[in-house]
Amino acid sequence: MNSDTMRTTKQPAARKRARPQVAEESATYIVEEARETKELRFIDLFCGCGGFTLGMERAGFRCLAAVDVDPVAVATLRANLPNVSNVLQRDLTAFPPEKLADVIVVRHVDVIVGGPPCQGFSTVRRVDGANHGERLKDDPRRYLYREFLRYVDFFQPRVFVMENVLGLRSAAGGEYFTAVQKETRELGRAEGRLGYRVHGQVEDAWELGVPQKRRRQLIIGVRGDLPGYFIPELHPPARAVPHTNLGPAICDLPKLRAGEGKDERDYDDARRAEHLRIFGEAARNYLYRVVEVDRAELLTNHIARPHSDRDLRDFARLREGESSAVAMRRGVEFEFPYNKEHFKDRYTRQSRRTPCSTIVAHLSKDGLMFIHPAQNRSLTPREATRDSRAQPDSVKP
Ligand SMILES: C[S@@+](CC[C@H](N)C(=O)[O-])C[C@H]1O[C@@H](n2cnc3c(N)ncnc32)[C@H](O)[C@@H]1O
Repeated sequence: MNSDTMRTTKQPAARKRARPQVAEESATYIVEEARETKELRFIDLFCGCGGFTLGMERAGFRCLAAVDVDPVAVATLRANLPNVSNVLQRDLTAFPPEKLADVIVVRHVDVIVGGPPCQGFSTVRRVDGANHGERLKDDPRRYLYREFLRYVDFFQPRVFVMENVLGLRSAAGGEYFTAVQKETRELGRAEGRLGYRVHGQVEDAWELGVPQKRRRQLIIGVRGDLPGYFIPELHPPARAVPHTNLGPAICDLPKLRAGEGKDERDYDDARRAEHLRIFGEAARNYLYRVVEVDRAELLTNHIARPHSDRDLRDFARLREGESSAVAMRRGVEFEFPYNKEHFKDRYTRQSRRTPCSTIVAHLSKDGLMFIHPAQNRSLTPREATRDSRAQPDSVKP
């Protein structure tokens, strides 16, 4: 994809034309501007703390705007990516694309990316029946993809990428997945446009170099007037090869007890040297080429949340890589007071020799599934970021 293949709908304008006022801006002007800059520009909807934004910027795209309703997510993105000028805290159900066009002074972008919230499709929620029947239909988060499509319809990107959990595909017997694809194909058809070619693709973060089991549903659209071009299988970037397991990714970080840690501190160089000696090339590659430890001045967010004494005693009963269900089968008795049938998997100690299991959004409240492989505490935000996002250490979670 490059700027020259962009669709032109009107006669070309004079090359050095002054920038028109927002309201009168024409499609011709925007096409010409893109040709002049050769820059591929995107917007990130439901941007969270900016994982998608960061990846796209690093791939050479320029972010024109990132939008999310959560003030903390927006503040984090602004702090981590100060060059992104329009990071907006807005509720996308009440912020139409025309208003964003006024802010960014552009009515066409090359790419739209976004991850509408996935709680509405989470397989975890199926356990309590929330993903069935009326509760399923009533969950308004299931329809946030329509806000995304509203933006696609307005800005007519050449390509869009929408990310969600696998539950999107299977919820309500596939009804939602089919609806998303159908609505996307038909975008703009009523106005005589060609809609989008759509392709659903499942990607596994582990295969792409992240030390975590994390499978995600991508919905990729290519505008109907462009050649259909989908890459059915993504490959990891060269710097993320070979794959990394949890141990090489985190065990250089200073040892902590539950409740210990600081927002900012120095790295422990001696510990890192020992870590590299133990884990070798995989650790060196991950630390220096993927999370770029040498570019971060200080180690941030390495703070272990406190746990009750009872929880700490239960953690200590687990072997590395073991869940409480497995430990109970070998006769371990836990003190936790929850129903042992329903909460068999209440605790899991992760393993250094495998990828981490899928990290959930509310880790700070419920770290019990993410106990450190060799220390008696749950993972810190820095460790969780190393495991789940493969972002540089200079980026705050
Ligand atoms: C799955 S997260 C997105 C993660 C993001 N793509 C990343 O790479 O970090 C979903 C986001 O949608 C945001 N969100 C939920 N409802 C919203 C709404 N009505 N308007 C804007 N953002 C919303 C949440 O605050 C959350 O940050």
